[in-house]
Amino acid sequence: MFPHRHLLGIEQLSQTDIVTILDLAEKYASLNRQQHKHLDVLSGLTQINMFFENSTRTQTSFEIAGKRLGADVMNMAMQASSIKKGETLIDTALTLNAMHPDLLVVRHPHSGAVQLLAEKVNCAVLNAGDGRHEHPTQALLDALTIRRSKGRLHRLTIAICGDIAHSRVARSNMFLLGKMENRVRLVGPKTLMPSGVDKLGVEVTDNMTEGLEGADVVMMLRLQKERMDGGFIPSEREYYHRWGLDAAKLSKAKPDAIVMHPGPMNRGVEIDGTLADDINRSVIQEQVEMGVAVRMAVMDLLARNLQGGAA
Ligand code: NCD
Repeated sequence: MFPHRHLLGIEQLSQTDIVTILDLAEKYASLNRQQHKHLDVLSGLTQINMFFENSTRTQTSFEIAGKRLGADVMNMAMQASSIKKGETLIDTALTLNAMHPDLLVVRHPHSGAVQLLAEKVNCAVLNAGDGRHEHPTQALLDALTIRRSKGRLHRLTIAICGDIAHSRVARSNMFLLGKMENRVRLVGPKTLMPSGVDKLGVEVTDNMTEGLEGADVVMMLRLQKERMDGGFIPSEREYYHRWGLDAAKLSKAKPDAIVMHPGPMNRGVEIDGTLADDINRSVIQEQVEMGVAVRMAVMDLLARNLQGGAA
């Protein structure tokens, strides 16, 4: 049903895989709105969350998802771990592996680190964001949010705006939205476009008015200052003026266009605070809600394959 041992990226998933995850997540979204939200789907399994980068919503979301499905969930405090004593990522992984976890949720600042780790352990590995590479559960929760708001996940025009170059969220979304046959536009300063962007099969512009024209979905990205080593933007003020989303720029999109942001937001830098809070346009809180449901669905599907030996 779901032919994967790990969830490393959207790139490896088929259209059917994506729909399978979203359909199951839809059921978990309903469960999460009930008072009693506990199931035993992951009962007896051990989930370890290893976050080598700070995270608020993703880590909490994976923890809640695991607990709702009955797993034993452990959060490794990576700041206090042996990594600080010089242990390599692989040695840490092998040590954990010897304790027989079933699900390993990993966030790491280096692109490709999660894949490397997956090759060394026996359990299912879930990528919770690796460098600029992929953040698959974010793209899946975005897709579920879009599908619920728009009633479909194909033939939509989606503008992904801002710091594309440093964003694993943008990359995973480009793969997913492309696979589902949408029109994807990347909008942002030329300095924040990834190299080889012309080969990605998407439209590219540095002009917000042009980029937002007729869009069904406007997805804003955080300016990832921690991944910049200077010189990418003129000033935050100038950035907001040209690429920050406000009501005037949004008026170029379709009248029922939705506004998204993966969080954490820099209000007044990439998005106007009032717009972010406008429940008639912004689905930012629903994205967080769908995050738990999507992570429950993915962990459920991967757990079914633990004995099955899927690829
Ligand atoms: C994103 C991330 O960490 O890649 N955040 C998230 O997971 N919700 C985006 C970001 O940090 O800007």
